[in-house]
Amino acid sequence: MNASGSLVLGIESSCDETAAAVVRDARHVESNVVASQIAVHAAYGGVVPELASRHHVQNIVPVVERALAEAGIDDPRALSGVAVTRGPGLVGALLVGVQFAKALAYVHELPLIGVNHLEGHLVAPRVGAEPPPSRHVALLVSGGHTALIGVEGFGDYRPLGTTRDDAAGEAFDKVAKLLGLGYPGGPIIERTAAGGDPDAVALPRALPRRKELDFSFSGLKTAVANHVRRSGVPEGQALADLCASFQQAVVDVLVRKSEEALRQRRARALVASGGVLANKAVRAAMSAMCEARDAALYVPPIKLCTDNGAMIAAAGALRLARGETSGLDLNAVARLPLC
Ligand code: KG4
Ligand code: ZN
Repeated sequence: MNASGSLVLGIESSCDETAAAVVRDARHVESNVVASQIAVHAAYGGVVPELASRHHVQNIVPVVERALAEAGIDDPRALSGVAVTRGPGLVGALLVGVQFAKALAYVHELPLIGVNHLEGHLVAPRVGAEPPPSRHVALLVSGGHTALIGVEGFGDYRPLGTTRDDAAGEAFDKVAKLLGLGYPGGPIIERTAAGGDPDAVALPRALPRRKELDFSFSGLKTAVANHVRRSGVPEGQALADLCASFQQAVVDVLVRKSEEALRQRRARALVASGGVLANKAVRAAMSAMCEARDAALYVPPIKLCTDNGAMIAAAGALRLARGETSGLDLNAVARLPLC
């Protein structure tokens, strides 16, 4: 069985993006609609769960309708199935997508496929591109997760390392907040770091032992906080230097641990995905490391790094091809491990 000939709608509402997409053959994007709530949460400096749920409720119908319309689908019965993120994420936010997907699947008698959000990120690089070899190492770095995973094939995952405290994206968000830069921190720090000197401020790289594949970012965040306590919140060039130094510290750790995972697994391919891979410094450094090791790198285009429905549709199509569907008792799960 394979996913060719399938036309799957993917719905994502785990955090602050209401997203829907239609993907053909687990690969070709027919539509990809994302309604971001950044403006809603920016005033609070982070995602407010109750507000996220309410905005998902407002957005879900127009977002799905647009995804179907842009894919040229008049009758949802043309779909092969409805895939939806069932976790991990904010439970109230997840429930909006799950309930809507269930209703749609029930009314149109379509298969329902509950998808793990992290598996969505893992398959994002194959959307619109050549899939990676089935055996590879995956680095997943988002606002909620930082993990290295040994992938033996679709659905066959071995945990290699994870963060002991903050996720990498969370570190970007927290550092941006303590520098008074706003939310979400990743893109703002990246912009502010442009023209900064990445060697200007000495910051720690945690867990330097070579064989160690876990991550830790809270010490780095504390080091930036201490720097600010000593010298105040910098401005102008000094602010650019601090942001560039912080970003470089994150880049160094992500690259070093990914390289070690490739080495330990004797793998020749790296999938790197999740919101933090939207960062150009991270992308460039990963690409240089893989080139030096003669390993192939699979990274999604920037708009498929952050949360979207296309990756959920693709993961759903691959599950559907294996005959794995969900019942109408599908529930949202806040904490849902991948492996
Ligand atoms: O994958 P994602 O959209 O949502 C989660 O599943 O968490 O990732 C969002 C995270 C946020 O922490 C955000 O600050 C970070 O990804 N991020 C970035 C960039 N764009 C988004 N981090 C660094 N540089 C960026 N350009
Ligand atoms: Zn995500």
